[in-house]
Amino acid sequence: DKGGFKHFMAKEIAEQPTVIAEAIRSYLPTGSDKVQLPGEGVDFASVDRLTMVACGTAYYACLTAKYWFEQLARLPVEVDIASEFRYREPPIPARTLALFVSQSGETADTLAALRYCRDKAERIVSVVNVPESSIARESDLMLPIHAGVEVGVASTKAFTCQLSVLLMLALKAACDRGTLTSDQIADHAAALRGLPSTLNAALDQNDTIRSAAQKLSEARDVLFLGRGLMFPLALEGALKLKEISYIHAEAYASGELKHGPIALIDQQMPVVVMAPRDALFDKTVSNMQEVMARKGKVMLISDSKGLAEARDGVWSTIQMPHVHPSLTPILYAVPAQLLAYHTAVAKGTDVDQPRNLAKSVTVE
Ligand code: F6R
Repeated sequence: DKGGFKHFMAKEIAEQPTVIAEAIRSYLPTGSDKVQLPGEGVDFASVDRLTMVACGTAYYACLTAKYWFEQLARLPVEVDIASEFRYREPPIPARTLALFVSQSGETADTLAALRYCRDKAERIVSVVNVPESSIARESDLMLPIHAGVEVGVASTKAFTCQLSVLLMLALKAACDRGTLTSDQIADHAAALRGLPSTLNAALDQNDTIRSAAQKLSEARDVLFLGRGLMFPLALEGALKLKEISYIHAEAYASGELKHGPIALIDQQMPVVVMAPRDALFDKTVSNMQEVMARKGKVMLISDSKGLAEARDGVWSTIQMPHVHPSLTPILYAVPAQLLAYHTAVAKGTDVDQPRNLAKSVTVE
């Protein structure tokens, strides 16, 4: 049942405030700033290292979480694509927590990577949407993301629920390791509780994003740029766009632009820049200006402050509400998803069932 929407994907994008509220309630009980995990939980004071493994969109959720675990909990993190990890057979040092992220819980490569870590890692934890899945069953601890059934082949609400659970897990790690003050933890908890209404404000930009997508739908190639937490999100934005609109899209860390991809920039090239007004904003803006100096068409996604400072000469803008800096990837996922969605609709592709793709990849 598409609940009045034209596609499951549109319905699932719109459901995000509700399902994320549910995920937050289940890990951050009302009246407390302490993240609570099911079962025996995890004590991050007894691990020295985190290895995260996944495929596709779930891999980008892991890449995002690396920034959180490293910055908030000062925990060293490695992130790997499951199909690379399993055949590289990497050494797993003592006191390593192995974390697997999978919507379906059945992805063959992720499951094989998990089995490789059995008897090597200190603990095996999975972040899954399907609690009865193989990956869930074979983990020491399973953390559900509470996204509900996701029908659209392109992952949307599962991605933002994965991010929400991973951020709460990083906060738990920060708490266990004493790396944040209680005020900083309380700020994060308050920001998480406010997230569903902030997401609704982002969804209210739907019409603006539809018009922006109309312009994107004429492109042959699109670049996505972001720094810090916006870099993995740029990767996810590019993946969403190519999956469902079949437009060639690539993402780079903004600082990598001048190391090669800037050669691609000309009047034909839209460049989507994701840049909340954070500590790295000025650096991203200077990369954006390098694009505009070469006549590239910049689509800037930022908040009111960022747009006020940097909108001059920009081709197209999308305004996001202001949010706590740690939460920007969850919020900016919404315009990334809606851009891909409306571009695909404008091109007339099969949004929910893109060619050549399957919802669950149970073979290599
Ligand atoms: C992209 C997408 C895929 C999956 C990937 C992993 O929109 O849906 O990239 O994220 O196949 O699937 P799960 O999370 O089920 O392991």
